[in-house]
Amino acid sequence: MNRIEAIYSLIAKNDKVVDVGCDQAKLSLMLAHRKQSSIACDISENVINRARQDIKNELIDLRVSNGLENINEGEANTLVLAGMGTHKILNNKNLRFKKIITISNNYHDILRNKMNELNYIVDKELIVKDNNKYYNLISFKEGNKKYSEKEILLGLNHIDKELYGEYLNYLLKKYNKIKLSSKDNNSKIDDMINIIEEAL
Ligand SMILES: C[S@@+](CC[C@H](N)C(=O)[O-])C[C@H]1O[C@@H](n2cnc3c(N)ncnc32)[C@H](O)[C@@H]1O
Repeated sequence: MNRIEAIYSLIAKNDKVVDVGCDQAKLSLMLAHRKQSSIACDISENVINRARQDIKNELIDLRVSNGLENINEGEANTLVLAGMGTHKILNNKNLRFKKIITISNNYHDILRNKMNELNYIVDKELIVKDNNKYYNLISFKEGNKKYSEKEILLGLNHIDKELYGEYLNYLLKKYNKIKLSSKDNNSKIDDMINIIEEAL
């Protein structure tokens, strides 16, 4: 399963989707294939113009939009933000959604924490291995929760436990390598190693 297929697998047929940063609108194309309409938007006019030339499908509403700027209240209840950093993801807080699916390429701990402050809790997580690289898909729903340190750092409610285990082993190797190559004692790295070992 690639990243877009993983997002698609978490979208129900009656979800009203807006994909922010859609690029080639691959997700919307998959949704349209099963007769589901969606909004696909991107900050880049070039990206949207190209998509308009390539995609002629009345189920896909292509828009230029910086984040949710050109999305109105009630047009969507499911927000997808994939292939961008946590800080960019967190800029989209002007509308409420029943489901927010993210694939951030950094700071997943900050994302879980800040989303909690915005009253969104982790519903499900899925590690996706695409082109030999691991991606953290996090699906949020409305709510509030006190997370443990392990949950903030490594996530929770992973759907594919086997792939999650593989990812933890990858992280353990990565942090052990960092520890070996650094001359100074770094307690943060040691803490991370302990947390991963406990999770395994
Ligand atoms: C790396 S691509 C990811 C495409 C697709 N979502 C995916 O996961 O494969 C990032 C896309 O986000 C768009 N983007 C960056 N900042 C944005 C913003 N503030 N609002 C909307 N789109 C943005 C870029 O133009 C680009 O097309």
